[in-house]
Amino acid sequence: MVIIDGKKTALALREALAAEVAAGVAGGRRPPGLAVVLVGDDPASQVYVRNKEKACSAAGINSFAYRLPAGTCQGKLLALIRECNARADVDGILLQLPLPPHLDAQACLLAIDPAKDVDGFHPENVGRLSIGLPGFPPCTPAGVMELLRCYDLSPAGKKAVIVGRSNIVGKPLAMLLSRPGPYADATVTVCHSRTADLAAECRAADFLFLAVGRPGFVTAGMVKEGAVVIDVGISRTPQGLKGDADFESVKCRASAITPVPGGVGPMTIALLLKNTVTAWKERIS
Ligand SMILES: NC(=O)c1ccc[n+]([C@@H]2O[C@H](COP(=O)([O-])OP(=O)(O)OC[C@H]3O[C@@H](n4cnc5c(N)ncnc54)[C@H](OP(=O)(O)O)[C@@H]3O)[C@@H](O)[C@H]2O)c1
Repeated sequence: MVIIDGKKTALALREALAAEVAAGVAGGRRPPGLAVVLVGDDPASQVYVRNKEKACSAAGINSFAYRLPAGTCQGKLLALIRECNARADVDGILLQLPLPPHLDAQACLLAIDPAKDVDGFHPENVGRLSIGLPGFPPCTPAGVMELLRCYDLSPAGKKAVIVGRSNIVGKPLAMLLSRPGPYADATVTVCHSRTADLAAECRAADFLFLAVGRPGFVTAGMVKEGAVVIDVGISRTPQGLKGDADFESVKCRASAITPVPGGVGPMTIALLLKNTVTAWKERIS
């Protein structure tokens, strides 16, 4: 049984991106720039934004943080997004979600220039992903695909089951896994809270992807012997961060499994940096 080390894999990717940036800058290019927009004072969002700033700086990417008060109006936020769209030194724009409830997140995401949408949430990038055109894939599902590639776990022709159908994880992951190509070509089932027999669906999976947000929700009895289990779920519990899989029991049945923390989580930031470097390369070429 293999424990998939997302920390190590993310670090290797971040180092490769840092080397690419350093080579571009040594060749006279301006460094990549990422604008990070945070509205309000949600403590978890503040931690995420700080981590993203630190990761950018380690990779040689300039991060421009905009911290706006919780009461910021829609017009002001849209004006800031338009300003970032126009800035020549900004390659990527990240709008930290969730936004305070009075703000319309969809309208704000729609205002981001798709060429700077490094989170991959703009409908244009979602559409591109769905029809197989180049674009920015959302960072968490793209990080999952990178783990499969790095650990040579090919789902081609296998049954993949995703539990969770959110726009940021489940749905884009289904598109990535079912498209033709290396480390894809899976036969995908997407489950959700209305799935009739979730345990049976999960037990049929050669590759099981969990994105529910319920700690320990999936137990060994729901996992096929030898399955690959990729746990995207992260929940804060009194015992620390926990995934959707009951790790200790599930790891005894799986052939490979991601731990929480240290699995998919670190890959998300690494893929954000990767999308930012891709946007930079496209803008300076
Ligand atoms: N590692 C990372 O970087 C990263 C990134 C993003 C998210 N996450 C974590 O991943 C988890 C999911 O995030 P999300 O944003 O996708 O969550 P979400 O939008 O809340 O979606 C959760 C999904 O789980 C389904 N679900 C809930 N209860 C269920 C049940 N009893 N049986 C089957 N399906 C059930 C929901 O079904 P319905 O659609 O029917 O409601 C929904 O599709 C969270 O723990 C989040 O923190 C981690």
